Amino acid sequence: MRTFSVLNQKGGVGKTTTALNLAHAIALRGHKVAAIDMDPQGHLTTGFGEEIRPQLGMAEVLFGEKSLEEVGIMTRKNLELFPAGTRLSEVEQSVRGFKGGNLLKNELKKIQEKDFIFIDCPPSAAILSMNAIFASTEIIIPVSSDYLALHGLSRLVEILYKIEERLRHKLTKWIVLTRFHGRRRLANEVREKLEKHFPNRVLKTPIREAVALAESPGYGYSIFEHQKNGNGANDYNALAEDLLHGRTR
Ligand SMILES: Nc1ncnc2c1ncn2[C@@H]1O[C@H](COP(=O)(O)OP(=O)(O)OP(=O)(O)O)[C@@H](O)[C@H]1O
Ligand SMILES: [Mg+2]
Repeated sequence: MRTFSVLNQKGGVGKTTTALNLAHAIALRGHKVAAIDMDPQGHLTTGFGEEIRPQLGMAEVLFGEKSLEEVGIMTRKNLELFPAGTRLSEVEQSVRGFKGGNLLKNELKKIQEKDFIFIDCPPSAAILSMNAIFASTEIIIPVSSDYLALHGLSRLVEILYKIEERLRHKLTKWIVLTRFHGRRRLANEVREKLEKHFPNRVLKTPIREAVALAESPGYGYSIFEHQKNGNGANDYNALAEDLLHGRTR
């Protein structure tokens, strides 16, 4: 089993878009996938076209009131969604400490039959993201190709190093270029800097800016349902292959 946190404390970089479409791309290849919504905004849940149900989401799982089994929704073939629920922000306020960081990890031990787990994190490095990181073997860091892209990335990597020390195991880190404009000099500069600073960590396929990727969550569709043959679907399919085979730049 491979467990990925899709993580970046910076907002709007494409975490949810990446978690949703990678999860579906890999489920479409016949693997058993879980997608976990750890963001109080619940965008992964609504992006799959599912409702945010009161008392029946990851908040209740983390509070120990419900089991993963009780809240899971088979949203697509091979793809089980564990939705956000309405009280995730309460978890952020009431749970603390190293022990509080292990809540998700302890729960995930109960869904061992999955091949891949994707956890969509909120735009912060607080307790919900900590739970996701502690439960993961690998971290996917989406980086948007704008001038603020590298801002905060070194801090994020430092946080990950500290966590690795405490966990006493390494986390495999993957960087994904998102919202990429191949013709812009700035985007290419961001890409070159990332490849230089993080050799063999930048996944091969950049995700291009594509209107269809922005539209599809509004319909509750993945990109493979909304526009099967466009750039968005092609890029996320290629990215899924990168991840399956460890293809980097
Ligand atoms: N490659 C892309 N092309 C066009 N639009 C995109 C692309 N990737 C993401 N978007 C859009 O950009 C916005 C932010 O993306 P997304 O919600 O995936 O980011 P996020 O990092 O999860 O945000 P948050 O930090 O709020 O959780 C959304 O409206 C999304 O549809
Ligand atoms: Mg998001």
